[in-house]
Amino acid sequence: MYKSATPAIDRIKEIMDMEIEKTGDEKLNFKNGAIVFEDVDFSYGEKQILKKFNAKFGKGLNYIVGDNGTGKSTIMQLICGILTPSKGKITIDEQDVSKIQQKSLFNYISIVFSNSYLFKGSIYENIIVGNLKAEKSDVEGVCKLVELDTFIKNNEDGYDYDVGEAGQFLSSGERQKIALARALIKKSPFLLLDEATKSIDEDTRKIMNKTIEKIQNKKTIIIITHNLKEINSNSHIINLT
Ligand SMILES: Nc1ncnc2c1ncn2[C@@H]1O[C@H](COP(=O)(O)OP(=O)(O)OP(=O)(O)O)[C@@H](O)[C@H]1O
Ligand SMILES: [Mg+2]
Repeated sequence: MYKSATPAIDRIKEIMDMEIEKTGDEKLNFKNGAIVFEDVDFSYGEKQILKKFNAKFGKGLNYIVGDNGTGKSTIMQLICGILTPSKGKITIDEQDVSKIQQKSLFNYISIVFSNSYLFKGSIYENIIVGNLKAEKSDVEGVCKLVELDTFIKNNEDGYDYDVGEAGQFLSSGERQKIALARALIKKSPFLLLDEATKSIDEDTRKIMNKTIEKIQNKKTIIIITHNLKEINSNSHIINLT
């Protein structure tokens, strides 16, 4: 019913199977999904971004807010092990992030940015690339969750709809919903959203936030946003200055 693997997916799989630069040897021993920053210093060259930064992120909704350039995206990259603190340490379930193999870490983390990249191919392919072991029913499930099912039902190609180069045949809201669906199909216990709802309309933003609230009990979700209206007041908020 759907197009099977295309050269684009084969190429992405090749890239994903490549050895990523080794940061540590340990496999992540996942327990509760607790991320802890302990007295973390971080600088880009001479420019210090974090100084004795302490924070805890646990299961549920965690927000990071703050002005441009205060280090929000840097914190995400530190969690992913892409950047390393110059002092202090970051742990995931008490395991030092710098000792964890990058590939193992990536298996547990999904990220959505504000302008997610979609490759030329179908909606189906652009979602399943988040988890190549997923089944058709999983793709359908995440599409329902992000409320893409009506769009899919209402166009004659359905899941085979060609999104075009960089997703140009879609609106920015549809692209972001696909990006969120791609992140969710991975079923990872950590979900990081770096201004994922920045350039989309109010209705789509509401749908995406509703989706995130539905899954909040299952994952450690960290949301970076400049839109204070979308913050759920019962959640954990870190304000960077
Ligand atoms: N690779 C880099 N090299 C040098 N400086 C950098 C680098 N990446 C970010 N910076 C600087 O570090 C500071 C923090 O950047 P970061 O991207 O974490 O900010 P942010 O809080 O996410 O900001 P925004 O709200 O604009 O996205 C900024 O002043 C930025 O210019
Ligand atoms: Mg940022």
